[in-house]
Amino acid sequence: MPSLEFYRSEFVTYLDKQSNYGEPKRLYDPIVYILELPGKRLRPILTLMAADLFGGHHKDALNAAMAIEVFHNFSLVHDDIMDDAPLRRGQPTVHEKWDTNTGILSGDAMLIKAYQFLETYEGNILRELFKLFNDTALKVCEGQQYDIDFEIRNDVSIAEYLKMIEYKTAVLVATALKMGAIVSGAASDGQRLIYEFGRNLGIAFQLQDDYLDAFGDPEVFGKQVGGDIIENKKTFLYLKAVELATAEDSKTLLDLYSIQPNDAALKIETAKAIFKQSGAVDELDKEIKKYTDMAFEALDQVNGSAEIKKLLTLFGKDLMKRTN
Ligand code: IPE
Ligand code: IPE
Ligand code: MG
Ligand code: MG
Ligand code: MG
Repeated sequence: MPSLEFYRSEFVTYLDKQSNYGEPKRLYDPIVYILELPGKRLRPILTLMAADLFGGHHKDALNAAMAIEVFHNFSLVHDDIMDDAPLRRGQPTVHEKWDTNTGILSGDAMLIKAYQFLETYEGNILRELFKLFNDTALKVCEGQQYDIDFEIRNDVSIAEYLKMIEYKTAVLVATALKMGAIVSGAASDGQRLIYEFGRNLGIAFQLQDDYLDAFGDPEVFGKQVGGDIIENKKTFLYLKAVELATAEDSKTLLDLYSIQPNDAALKIETAKAIFKQSGAVDELDKEIKKYTDMAFEALDQVNGSAEIKKLLTLFGKDLMKRTN
């Protein structure tokens, strides 16, 4: 049976071959920099696996996988500007290493590069990939805007938060899988179910990302721990804690998230203590499990290679245990 490592190395070998971008250096060096930092490559691995799942060949999906990974990295470069984030994959973010203008333009060029990888397909497959990619890319922008809007709102609901993470994160995971399905000519039922698997897994993944942002180990997480708390992100942990905590703790949280206190370390420590004591962390665990289970229910119904279905199950279980 092929392993997750096999798909990762197939993708990374292909990625490495593409990194001769040329001049001007200030446009292309940041692109090579971000793409070569050790990301987990989750989305492109999913694209390749989905192609094999439906009886196609993963090598035919390599350019779709590149489009997805380059788009993902583009979104990270711009996201780090928007979130004022200093660290990515354990290294300085592009706008820190160069500057904001460089991050904006190199990011723009990456979006165009992503389209160039899609250009390599033909006919109906190209049309379907193109439409899916565009619908998804626009949703990611919508999700990112909600995320920023929520920073200054104090009446965000859990339903609104869930829609926001579906848009900013989950639809791209779902699309990564569906693109593999499209390349291999899967029937519409298969495409729908694998998208549903990815959408639910993507929501679980972002819930877990929000947990790690607060409670991850700074040595392995690769991003600034507590960044979401500093930026007043209305995550599940925050929203549940406001709901479940004592009146006094709720008020403390609301106050902390309506100002930019000088002592960021104290804000982080106080918020994390309330997240734990209120039971919000336990609720988050349940929510992650709920979405992961929904993902597996969709996967169960997929008519495809039993071996790859097993591998996708392993992939989903690993995600829940991830540390970065
Ligand atoms: C980070 O995605 C952005 C989120 C949607 C949370 P990943 O955690 O997949 O980042 P890399 O590519 O492995 O660095
Ligand atoms: C990122 O969400 C989603 C996109 C990049 C579209 P986050 O802001 O939570 O991602 P990280 O934590 O910076 O990776
Ligand atoms: Mg961010
Ligand atoms: Mg963000
Ligand atoms: Mg995050």
